[in-house]
Order: sequence, then C-alpha cells, then structure tokens
Amino acid sequence: MLRSKGPQGRRVACWASLAMLLPAAVNAEAPAAGPAHTVTFDRHSLIIDGKPTYLWSGSFHYWRLPSPESWNDVLQKMKAAGFNAVEIYFDWGYHSTKRGVYDFTGIRDVDRLLDMARDVGIYVIARPGPYINAETDAGGFPGWLVTTAGKPRTTAPEYTAAYREWMTQIDRILARHQVTDGRGTVLLYQVENEFYNDSDDGRAYLQALEDKARADGITVPLFGNHNTNFFEGVGKLDMPGYDSYPMDFDCTRPERWNAVYDFASERRGLKNAPLFFPEYQGGAFDVWGGPGYEACRKLTGPAFERVFYEATMASGSTMQNFYMTYGGINWGWLSSPGVYTSYDYGAAITASRQLTPKYDQQKLIGYMTRAAAPLARTDAVGTSVPENPRLRVTARVNPDNGTRFYILRHADASDTTDDATHLKVALGNRGETTIPQAPGTTIHINGRDSKVLLANFRFGQQDLAYSTSELLTQLHEGKRDVAVLYGRTGEDGETVLRYRDRPDVRMIEGKIDTHWDAASHTLRLNYRHEGLSRVEIRQGDASLLLLLGDNAAAIRFWQLDTNDGPVLLRGPYLARAAEHRNDTLALTGDTDHAGDIEVFTAAGTRTVTWNGKPVGTTATASGSLLGHLDGPAPVTLPALNDWHIADGAPEIAARFDDRAWQATDRTSTPNDYWDHKLPILDSDDYGFHHGHVWYRGHFTATGKENAIQLSANLGVHLGNHGIFTAWINGHFLGNNPSGSQQFPIDPRWLKKGGDNVVSVLVENTGHLQEEHNGAFREPRGLLSARLEGSDAAIHWKIQGNVGGEDLPDTMRGPFNIGGLYGERNGWHLPGFNDSGWAKATLPRATDKPGMDWYRTSFKLDIPDGQDVPLAIRIHDAAPHHYRAIIFINGWQIGRYISDVGPQTDFELPPGLLNKHGENTIAIASWSTAQDGGLGEVSLVMQGNYTTGLK
Ligand code: GAL
Repeated sequence: MLRSKGPQGRRVACWASLAMLLPAAVNAEAPAAGPAHTVTFDRHSLIIDGKPTYLWSGSFHYWRLPSPESWNDVLQKMKAAGFNAVEIYFDWGYHSTKRGVYDFTGIRDVDRLLDMARDVGIYVIARPGPYINAETDAGGFPGWLVTTAGKPRTTAPEYTAAYREWMTQIDRILARHQVTDGRGTVLLYQVENEFYNDSDDGRAYLQALEDKARADGITVPLFGNHNTNFFEGVGKLDMPGYDSYPMDFDCTRPERWNAVYDFASERRGLKNAPLFFPEYQGGAFDVWGGPGYEACRKLTGPAFERVFYEATMASGSTMQNFYMTYGGINWGWLSSPGVYTSYDYGAAITASRQLTPKYDQQKLIGYMTRAAAPLARTDAVGTSVPENPRLRVTARVNPDNGTRFYILRHADASDTTDDATHLKVALGNRGETTIPQAPGTTIHINGRDSKVLLANFRFGQQDLAYSTSELLTQLHEGKRDVAVLYGRTGEDGETVLRYRDRPDVRMIEGKIDTHWDAASHTLRLNYRHEGLSRVEIRQGDASLLLLLGDNAAAIRFWQLDTNDGPVLLRGPYLARAAEHRNDTLALTGDTDHAGDIEVFTAAGTRTVTWNGKPVGTTATASGSLLGHLDGPAPVTLPALNDWHIADGAPEIAARFDDRAWQATDRTSTPNDYWDHKLPILDSDDYGFHHGHVWYRGHFTATGKENAIQLSANLGVHLGNHGIFTAWINGHFLGNNPSGSQQFPIDPRWLKKGGDNVVSVLVENTGHLQEEHNGAFREPRGLLSARLEGSDAAIHWKIQGNVGGEDLPDTMRGPFNIGGLYGERNGWHLPGFNDSGWAKATLPRATDKPGMDWYRTSFKLDIPDGQDVPLAIRIHDAAPHHYRAIIFINGWQIGRYISDVGPQTDFELPPGLLNKHGENTIAIASWSTAQDGGLGEVSLVMQGNYTTGLK
C-alpha cells in the first residue's frame, strides 16, 4: 500500500484491493481482500472512492453489551435506520487485566465485531484511545496503569511503554479490517480523546501516537476529537473533529431547551477538511440519584434531534456522529464514579435494544442524507428571509448540480408557536419563486421543529423543482423511480416536478390536486399530509411512483440494499436485510404485532419470504406486493418465589481466618498520588482494582481504646455513592459515605491484651476519569486508621477479588467481581450448590447491618425466532438502607442502591441467558443500616418481538 498527496495536497490513502463500496448486507464468510478503496476528503466532505459521502453515524460500545449476538442486532438496527457508520471506542482496560496480558476472545472478540460490521455493511469509526473517557472506570485506562509510574497522556517513558503495548494489540486488529485494504469497513481512526494539552509535550505525545498508528499499519485518515486543537504544527491530524453537547447532561429538567449554536464560522475556518462532529449529543448520561433515562430521552428527544442536527447540517457539516445511539450497560464495575449501571443514555436505541421515537426521527433525517447525495457537497448561499419573521431559513447549494437545500426553523429555536410562511426559492436560473404557489396554502413550523426542503433536485429520471414536503428516500426499481415524501400530519404539501410535456397522472390513493403549467413545464401536486397518498406520474418511459405521507406513515418505510439494487418495504417494526434469489425476495426483520407488509421491488419478484417463511402476497395498484406478517406469540415469565439465603460477611467476626490474606506491608509505590501514611493501604497497590475490598486490622488492645478514626477514599466526587462499613470484634461501628469518620468504641467490646480485629468493607465507585493531572490514580480503599486512647499499632490485611490481576475467570474478565466472600467462593456462579442454604422469601427486612446472599433459579422457554428483552426488577415499597449487587448466571449486571436510585430494572443481555432452560440469579445485599434486607425481585419483559436475528 502507499500513501500519497491527494489532488489538493491532502493526505490520501490509496490501495489496491477489495470489492464494492459499503456492500449490501452479505451473508458470506470472511472475504478475501477485494478491490481498492480510497478514503480522502476535501473541505466539503469525506470522499470514498471518489464519491462525496455524507457520514451519518452513531456511537456504540461493544464492551457495554456483553453479548456478541446482540452486537449484530445493534449494528443491523443502526444500518436499517440509515446510519452508514458506527463509531466505537475500544477500551484498553476491558482487554488488559495485567501488564502484558491482553484478551480478545469471547465478549472481547473485536475481530468478530468488525466482521459483523463488514457483513452488515456499515463503516466503523475506530476510537482506540489510549484514553477514551466515556464515563468508564479510569476513562479506559487499565487497573494496572494506576500503579505504573509515568504521567499519563504525556511522553513519559513509562507511560509510553504502557500505551504502546495496547496500541500494538488493538492496531493489529483494526489494521486488518480497514476499508482501504478491502478487508473490512474501518474507515477512520481517532487519536486520543478530547486532548487539549497544547504544550510541546502534548504535541509530541500526539505525534508519537500518530506515528505509532501509522507504523502499526493504520492507513485510513487519522482524526481528533479535540475541537480546534492540532489543526497545524506538531501533532497535526488529518482531520480535526468537534464535540458538542448543546443540552448538556442535566436530565432533571427535560423540558429545558438551549440555544442553537451556529457552526458556520468553524466551517469557514476549515480550509481543507470537512466540518466533522465525532461526538454530537445523542442523549445524556444520568447519575446516581438522577431522574432516570426516560428524562434524558425527553431532554434530547425527537424535536431536539430534528432542530439541532439539521442546524448542524445548515452550518455545513457533512460528518455527524451521535453519542450515543446505543448506550448499553455498565455491567460489573465498568462505570466511572458518578454513573450507575445503565448507560442507556436516553439514546435512540434503548439499553434493551428497543427502537424509540428518537430512532424514528434519526431515520427520517438519515434516510434523506443518503437519498439526497448532493447534500455531501454544498456551500452556503444567500436567500431571502421568510415572509414570517418568526422563522429563519438557511440555504445551501451544491456547486456541481445546483441542488438547493433550504433549512427552515424558528428564529428562536425554543419557540413553541405554530407559524406559517411562504419562502422564496431559487429555481434554476429564473430568480426566486415564492412557494407554495397554491392559493391559501403555506409552509408551517409548528413548535420546536425544523425542515429541510429540496429544490432543483434530479434523481433517477426525475427532475424535482421543489417540494414543501421533505424527502425520505428515492430509489430506482426496475423501470420506475419511487420516491417517498412526508410532512407533519394535517399540514399542506406542494411538490412540483418538471416535464417536457404534460405527463400522465394516475391517482392511486388519497386526495391530490394536480395542476399542469405548460409555460414552465411543471406539474404541481397539492395535498395534505395525512396517512399515505399515492400517485403515479408517467411520461414516455419515465415513471414515478410518488408516496406522500405524514411522519407516522414515513417511519414505517424501510429501505434495504441488495446486490440487485435497493428494495423498499413498508409495515414492520424493523427490516434487517434483503436478498434476491432468482424470483424470490428473502427478507429478514422483526415485528411487534401482526400486520401488513408491503414490498416495492422490481417486477419479476414472485415470492417474498420473511425470516425464511413464505409470505402470501397480492399485487397492488401501486405495483407492490402486499402480505401479512404474524406478531410474536405471548410469553409468560416465571415468578421468582424460591430463594435461598446465606450470611455473606463472615469477615465481620473476630474469629474469621484471614491468614491467607495479603498483609498491607508496602512502603513505596510508583503511584505519586499516595501521599498518606505508611504502610500503603491503597487497594490498587495490592492488585485489587475493581469492586469491594475487605480490610481486617489486628491490634492488641490496652483496654483504653475509646474510638477509632478511619479514613478511606471512596471516590466521593460528583455525588457518587461509595461507602464503607466498620465493625470491631463483630460489633457494628457504623457506616461512612464521605470518607472519614471517628467511631466510638464501647470498652466492653475489647479483649484487653488479646487480638482485636477491626473489619472494614469498602465499596468505591471506580477510578476517576482522567483529565491531565493523573486523577485516575487517586487511591481507593482505606487511607489511614488511628485508635484513640492508646498507641496500639494496627496491622492490616487486605482481600479483594480472587487472584487480583491474575484472574481465574478470564471469560467474565476484570470488571465482573470484587472481593465479597460470596464472590471469592463462587456464590455468584450458576454451578454453585446452594442446597444447604436456608429458604427465604422476598421482600425481606433485616434489622442489623451486614451482608446476605440470595440465590434462586428459574426456567425460560422463549419461543424460537422471538426476541424478548428481559430485566430483573428490584422493587421496594419505600427506600431501605441497603445496596445490592445482582448476578445472572455469574455475570454482574447491576448495582442497586435502594436509598439512592434511580435504577430498578436491570437489563439482561440475551447472550448471558439460557433461553431454553435453567438460569441462576444471585444477589449480594449489603444492609448498611438496621433497616436493610432486599425488596421484591421479579423478572420483567421489556418487549416481545418476532425476530430475524440469528
Ligand atoms: C465526551 C467524551 C466522551 C463522553 C462524553 C459524555 O466529551 O469524549 O467520552 O465522556 O463526553 O458522555
């Protein structure tokens, strides 16, 4: 392969290899390298194989979905909504438990993920860090880096050696999936993340990362997510990138609406690169005690998407990625301090993989970015202001073919009034025409809304003068063009097409007035957006089936690529893939209820199959095939009545045998964040990086001890909810959520002259994300302890997860468990025999602080061919003082804090379930006060679909 300067001096990658550009979904095995692809760019857009391409992309983290079969589901759902790219962070800490140890198998099989992306036919924007942020533990740095010397995100030699290890590993995989080599769909590569250190060292560091990526065989363009930094000089990236979260992250007031920032000046400032948003707000993360993700979905709902994403388009961006499109879950201890288990993000696709109205909205816009190819290359152009001053219009024109885009919204984007207007649009060379032309009709912007209207747009054999409806899609099938236009229910629509002579018009359905104007050679259609109207317009050999719908009708269309061209269908919940086999069209997809399916496909298709089964169809007046699809069979879930219980904290008792535990005897550490007393108590220094840690401190009592001062670092920034509980000789001393407290000791609890034991259980909420100061190295666990009333020395022992960095359970990996007694003894695992445990019923109240483990099992029998997203729900009538760690079949899928919230339903990724047999739930419940226990626990069904997912 070779790299050369492109026509405008840009860095360009050229290759000889692979086949089609973004192939239709293929059902094939791994392909050999095929025809060449080039990935270049200019100031307008990304250019793939010479074709300006509008990038419509969404973020997805495979490590937040420990279920590889579901990766395919998410990728197919994205592709079906018109996303042509998926942006993926690769999390260093997720793959590396210990220095030099890397795991890319099972749920960490990135090769498999990238193969899936290739087979789905979606580009990958790779973001391997080394630092990623992402609200994950240490922002993606591995646990072992906490105690490795060398300032992170600098050229420090120790840090350099560490990240080079990771880059070698991940780049090797990414390199073999690059679109440029024809082996995969990796399209772009991000270097670092939100890196703002513009010092000499910062630049040298960035340059070193770029050099390393290139040396590792990365040939696709390198870009940044660093806003205006590194446009020039040392560390300069091929493409800069902006991130923007205009609604910020406060979901408590979801009605809030912030100003729209116009990126037009940033656009103008970029001379050689497109305006690229590697992260534009797709939702928001929520915090412990927050309002929950439905509030975030409302804050960043369909109206926000419509107005802000189209404003970004209006300012000239042609590369938009939304963070997140599927958020997933912070299973195990993946979250950084502040955020809880669900990382649903209020995104377009829920954590349980369900489609929301946000998905529908993105689909409407995403389809247009694909159907209106001239949008990838436009310049801002002047235009008359709307007749109604409450509205504002921005115009853009494609310099090659004159296609114009008018983006219309309220001048004050937060306005909620319904405003009507006429617009002046430039049609060809004939000055401006006022539209709509039909007397008594107008264009509306009703509330927080935005519209992209097209003019002078040629597609197939058609010439659209303009439309006040929006374009969903257009395609050429057999001998005809098909176009779908849509608008808000009840609003007027006017579509004008140019013809040499008066065309034949055949009304198929609905009420459409037509008006032929011989002088301008235009056919004007006037209608109201309501349901779906259909008309066929024919002139000579050229024919157009025009489908005119309201938004609700438009979102029911799906367009799929096949090797014989595109297929349009209407009806089901989801369409995944299509393939022509002789005269059969094989479709796969999902339904949420029984209903119609209508297929618009080339004449000659005689049979349609859906998920492998034939669909009886009849031909319609629209030249389509109409059939019926079944909905899902009902599913009932078992009740969870049969619980077993065991005491989960024998460490509290003085007599507990801790001889095998490590003594905390270290007196030096490479971690310069340890500035506390010796010996070092930081759990990271003993290889325990995630989850609970126990400390047991032994001292010989004088009998005069009257209090103990304990300090811990729980990561209590950001209002997160770490805690520690302490006992002395089995007696409860108390809890502390803030990090430091003096606990009185009752002298009757002491064994004068004998061995006395302080037991401390610590829950921290993870390592901080890293800015530029090393904060991810902040110690975790106990910091210091001091007895009051005597000088007796305390000798501490520590116990975290079994093996520390040498994990026995590499399949579930470093984040799955910590050091609870039950975790150390496999109580979370499905094979554990709990028959000796006592029986319990839930809800159950306790009156003393401590730890109980609960186990039950249940049988599932999910009908084949159905997707039934399940969750475990914990319900408390009123908050109690306890926190529960929830395991399904050995996988930690939730952390519940009864008195903090907000999450009560914990998604069960399908790959962790036995869908036809026995499953085990284990819950460790830590009662932090006298009123603990465990609430009612049940299985809940979040949806029920027939599915084409294999
Ligand atoms: C971005 C960052 C992401 C994520 C996001 C908020 O600025 O790059 O990694 O943290 O903020 O969800």
